[in-house]
Amino acid sequence: MAIKGIDISLARQYLEADELVAVPTETVYGLAGNALHSSAVAKIFEAKERPSFDPLIIHVPDAQHLERYVTAIPKQAVQLINHFWPGPLTLVLRKKEIIPDLVTAGLDTVGVRCPDHPLTHQLLRQLDFPLAAPSANPFGYVSPTTAEHVEEQLGSKIPYILDGGPCKVGIESTIIGFENGKPMIYRRGGISNEAIERVIGPVESRLHSTSNPKAPGQLQSHYAPRKPFLLGDIDQLMATVKGKKFGVLRFKNAKNQAESEIVLSPSESVAEAAQNLFAALRQLDAMNIDLIIAEKVPDIGIGKAINDRLTRAAAASR
Ligand code: TXA
Ligand code: MG
Repeated sequence: MAIKGIDISLARQYLEADELVAVPTETVYGLAGNALHSSAVAKIFEAKERPSFDPLIIHVPDAQHLERYVTAIPKQAVQLINHFWPGPLTLVLRKKEIIPDLVTAGLDTVGVRCPDHPLTHQLLRQLDFPLAAPSANPFGYVSPTTAEHVEEQLGSKIPYILDGGPCKVGIESTIIGFENGKPMIYRRGGISNEAIERVIGPVESRLHSTSNPKAPGQLQSHYAPRKPFLLGDIDQLMATVKGKKFGVLRFKNAKNQAESEIVLSPSESVAEAAQNLFAALRQLDAMNIDLIIAEKVPDIGIGKAINDRLTRAAAASR
């Protein structure tokens, strides 16, 4: 059973012995192992029950470390790093030999990010290897944003959870790659398209889709609660689910409150909604209800990334 705590040297000892440790980041908790040792990386896939064709991202303490693991850093990547690292931005770049194929599912690129959390930053600085870390949830489920979320689901599979409190961004990093030198957004996340475009100009998106689910790195992620999840206008949805026990996920306070209801942002901010999103989905999943009805949040800034998660959750339960 996992112990929770803030003992960085204990976390380090486990990681140096190729054991897994859950670590806090500003986005979500990660399930971390030595990215340079296939034996540790294999344990990550096993604990998450993640298919081995879905590649992992690696975490580094600062931009200087990047050069050890990737062959070339495009100019626009440098600009993005200067603006957003440490922070919720993952860059997909051509990998060096030192990164095992298991990490990248055989791709010749690797996703790298520098997380913005004091505990994990200290830990990374003490290690002489990067940490491979997917979100610390069973494959397909909602990402964890507290140490307790990790404990509930993976507690029996790992020795230690570094407890850094609730994650301040609350949704995963934005992922950007480069295709023929052109930047491409693969996943919406903690840094909005608008913020990225202010730094490097217009960027196209090729978001994970179901059209080609077997292509590594392009697998549809579900972010899904276990209960049926309906997305739309809450009043209309309420009318259609009469007689059933339902829970409601709202963006902001409303006059006619439902019995089982969670409001993502009483202050009507998309950043606050992002912080609360995954914990709210977990709470609704644990309530004595048959299904969840939800509305989108304003489609601005990080709101786009939230709506992306909500849409996928609804699609997954169809
Ligand atoms: O915020 C985050 O990014 C969190 C924290 C723990 O850092 N990590 C995270 O990891 O969300 P994960 O594994 O749950 O999601 C990473 C995504 C996956 O959808 C994977 O397919 C994609 O990144 N990915 C990884 N390497 C890739 C590559 N070389 N090319 C394209 N996509 C890649
Ligand atoms: Mg994930």
